[in-house]
Amino acid sequence: METDSFHRPVLLNETLTYLITKKDGVYFDGTLGGGGYSKAILENIDQGGKVIATDLDENAIIFCTEKFKNEDRIKIVSDSYRNVKSIIQTLGVNKLSGAVLDLGVSSFQLDSVASGFSYRLDSDFDLRFNKNVGQSASDVVNSFQQKEIEGIIKNFGEEKYYKKITAEIIEERKTNPIQSTSQMVEIVSKKVSPNKLNETLSRVFQAFRIFVNSELENLKLFLTDVIDVIETRGRIAIVSYHSLEDRIVKDFFNYESLSCVCPREFPVCCCDKKVRIKKLHRKIILPSSEEISNNPRARSAKLRVAEVL
Ligand SMILES: C[S@@+](CC[C@H](N)C(=O)[O-])C[C@H]1O[C@@H](n2cnc3c(N)ncnc32)[C@H](O)[C@@H]1O
Repeated sequence: METDSFHRPVLLNETLTYLITKKDGVYFDGTLGGGGYSKAILENIDQGGKVIATDLDENAIIFCTEKFKNEDRIKIVSDSYRNVKSIIQTLGVNKLSGAVLDLGVSSFQLDSVASGFSYRLDSDFDLRFNKNVGQSASDVVNSFQQKEIEGIIKNFGEEKYYKKITAEIIEERKTNPIQSTSQMVEIVSKKVSPNKLNETLSRVFQAFRIFVNSELENLKLFLTDVIDVIETRGRIAIVSYHSLEDRIVKDFFNYESLSCVCPREFPVCCCDKKVRIKKLHRKIILPSSEEISNNPRARSAKLRVAEVL
């Protein structure tokens, strides 16, 4: 399979332009997917440079192990990017020259029945990147309390019909445990009008995906840890696809670029806050209209980059 059919990388040139500061640096690609970012990094560093790449999805690991079989500058690790510190330590690396995350799901995950990420394909209602770890979306909808399910759909899907949809889930599971994506589609379609159905399904599936993979927690942990292991003038680049992720990145970069966090009424600073990063662009970086027309999955992508001081 060609990389493009596995996943076409989004905002690739923009990300690379910011990320690569040293040709012989060590770069961390936390979301390997089809290896589009890792490949481009390798093409832009020299023989002394390296890439350490992680993914939770075994299909991505298998695909990229084959793809990079003749490339000895990349180390592929089947793990979560949230463990960046321990991963690089195990590999004997102290500092990174840059780190990148391209969040969300790959096209392969969206388009394959076995992955079960799309509401358009009938498969197990699972939604985990690694099917061997934690609870599936189906476990969650079949066993959680009504209030907990409402909270997931409301907070992680930002879905206003969260109460109606949850009530229908509770009703359905009394007689039929919810196992498949088509059952979830059926449940949601009973509660929203056909012209709102696709958007609502996207939000509901997004909500359970974020929850079962602890996506927001992973991102926060990654940011907190990676800043300690990036060398001075190294870069952190994050491509996000929805506002919950983007807010976490924005808030983190804002906080770490402040020199003082004392309340306004304090006459002098007494917080001892250190400025740890510099934001590298004033406006958020978005894909060009040309990229969006060639690759509609780019339409919600946003890139933020910061330099570690
Ligand atoms: C949008 S794709 C990345 C595509 C990649 N940039 C490319 O060029 O092909 C996101 C990938 O992140 C992986 N992923 C999600 N959460 C992860 C985590 N916590 N740790 C490692 N990989 C993760 C997914 O399995 C998926 O393959």
